[in-house]
Amino acid sequence: AQRFAVFGHPIAHSLSPEIHAAFAKQLGIRLEYTTVDAAPGEFDAAVRRFFADGGMGANITLPHKQAALALASEVSEAAQRTGVANTLTRLPGGGIAAHNTDAGGFVRDITERHGFDLRGHDALLLGAGGAAKAVAWALMDAGVQTLTIINRTPERADEIADAIGEPARCHTRYWDGLDGECFDLIVNATSIGVTGGDFDLPMSIVQDHSTAYDLCYGAAAAGFKGWALAAGVRPDWFRDGLGMLVEQAADAFERWHGQRPDTDPVYRELRQRY
Ligand code: ATR
Repeated sequence: AQRFAVFGHPIAHSLSPEIHAAFAKQLGIRLEYTTVDAAPGEFDAAVRRFFADGGMGANITLPHKQAALALASEVSEAAQRTGVANTLTRLPGGGIAAHNTDAGGFVRDITERHGFDLRGHDALLLGAGGAAKAVAWALMDAGVQTLTIINRTPERADEIADAIGEPARCHTRYWDGLDGECFDLIVNATSIGVTGGDFDLPMSIVQDHSTAYDLCYGAAAAGFKGWALAAGVRPDWFRDGLGMLVEQAADAFERWHGQRPDTDPVYRELRQRY
């Protein structure tokens, strides 16, 4: 069987092996997909060893997404723009190609599974790390009317807006500078739900029909969900990142196997547990 793996630190709770195994079963493909726990200092060597030993593809999660981009010999536009990679693929000549499937996974989940047409809507993005960068580009490409980015460290939000370079559509605010504004979509791409902290935002930014989306899922999404529901987001209009996780995995799977899995049954199965 062809060999695949997900690299992270920690990695024990990753759902990627289960998701890829389910896709493979669905399409009758034989594969081996393992987890590799690599501390930051060991990441490069571990990835190179994996590919030298015949590995075909690797998913990369925290904290290695930047290092994954750095070791690649070929970089896709999606990875270039975000500065991080979550998918590495062995090249025929022996090199490694880096790609980022987060943006595509996010857009497919929110537009197709959630039925939210991003075009013409005003979006607010919380955070300015690697995940936020992918989502910022994705929202712009998908045709939002405006994108407002806020971050605890405002310079990082400015960097994303500058890179996008469409000041009429995409701009930044200070975290405490949202009074009087409201949004159709509010996306949490901070790690506040993991590190612990409050979503100190005015509830007036939520409208009747606002959708709130957390890139995290499970317990890590509880804090933002609590804020969103208290601010008036309808329960059905809150989304966590489980769908995005499955969609970005499907993108990697298609890249590696040339076949697109049906994500719905896999998503529904996971949804019962998370
Ligand atoms: P990722 O790759 O998951 O995006 P990251 O690059 O570490 O991870 O980004 C984490 C994001 O969460 C950043 O936007 C960070 O804000 P800073 O740029 O100011 O560090 C944000 N974040 C993390 N903890 C936070 C907290 N307690 N309050 C506000 N923002 C927080």
